[in-house]
Amino acid sequence: MRVKKAGVVGAGAMGSAIAELLAFNGIDVWLNDVSAPAVEQGLARVRSIVEELVRFHESRADRELEKIRELGVTLTAEQVSAVRSRLAPKVSRSRGEEILARVHGTVDLAPFRDVDLAIEAVFEQEAAKRSVFESLDRLLGDGAVLASNTSSLSISRLARGLGHVRSTLVLHFFNPPSQLPLVEVAGGVDTREELLDEAVELIAGWRNHRYPMLPIRVKESPGYLVNRILVPVLNEACFALESGVASARDIDAAMKAGAGLPMGPFELADLVGLDVSLEVAESLAREFGDPKYRPSVLLKHLVDAGHLGRKTGRGFYEYA
Ligand SMILES: NC(=O)c1ccc[n+]([C@@H]2O[C@H](COP(=O)([O-])OP(=O)(O)OC[C@H]3O[C@@H](n4cnc5c(N)ncnc54)[C@H](O)[C@@H]3O)[C@@H](O)[C@H]2O)c1
Repeated sequence: MRVKKAGVVGAGAMGSAIAELLAFNGIDVWLNDVSAPAVEQGLARVRSIVEELVRFHESRADRELEKIRELGVTLTAEQVSAVRSRLAPKVSRSRGEEILARVHGTVDLAPFRDVDLAIEAVFEQEAAKRSVFESLDRLLGDGAVLASNTSSLSISRLARGLGHVRSTLVLHFFNPPSQLPLVEVAGGVDTREELLDEAVELIAGWRNHRYPMLPIRVKESPGYLVNRILVPVLNEACFALESGVASARDIDAAMKAGAGLPMGPFELADLVGLDVSLEVAESLAREFGDPKYRPSVLLKHLVDAGHLGRKTGRGFYEYA
């Protein structure tokens, strides 16, 4: 599996970040959404991810010199310049421009005709994803691979009856992909087995801003792996909050300080998006029929009120 040109449908939180990841790994990417403003917003998100990376690298030497100053140590001009040359940015501004130049926006799917890989990252709703898959199926060349970034839905069902059915798979990236290296790789009933090995090999050759990517083979199953575990954790946290066991802040603090998690369940849900968290929980509850996956009323009410987490400025917490 060789990917020189890719397409991403859905320029939201994940689609734009996946596009940046592909471009960071030397792939030309077309990023599509339903309207010109949505595409523009996606491209702006890509720009801000790249700018943050460049800023981080450009300020490395300054940060180190500041730490040294705080220790009360005064360096000579020569030592300062040695530190600066040692900590010269690994990602320069021109490398940032190069990454950005590989990402192109489009409101129509025409540029997808000759992509090697198309990834859909639209809403977590079967009908929306299926309609994107059908459009892509008509357009893509024979050798192209059709992937979904679904967090919970069945790839066998999304791909049923498509011409490309043997070349469909789940590539489930995590938020934000520039920092989290995991990709769950799963095939449906009709996916070519070798395609999954090839996808794992391909992704294992990529890096994000921090780490080599980590593709993991997962069997097709509701919620695949990570969300199957995370959804009951978020649900239980909501139930504990609803029954007044502790405040949201204390539940998050407890899960970090007591369970060793890097983020509390509410902080994570606000980052993921409460609408996405709700859709994933509902999909797991539907598929397994097990009440442990059923989302709490609190989560539903927040979504009904339009409080979707960081992206709307309010979820379990408020953001400035
Ligand atoms: N948010 C997360 O933390 C996260 C993590 C992993 C996977 N996912 C999955 O990624 C997918 C997208 O999630 P998100 O958080 O980026 O959602 P989002 O709401 O931020 O973005 C979805 C985008 O898809 C666009 N869209 C909808 N229908 C479209 C169509 N027919 N053609 C083109 N664009 C269309 C919307 O305009 C929107 O910009 C979902 O399947 C979600 O489950 C999300």
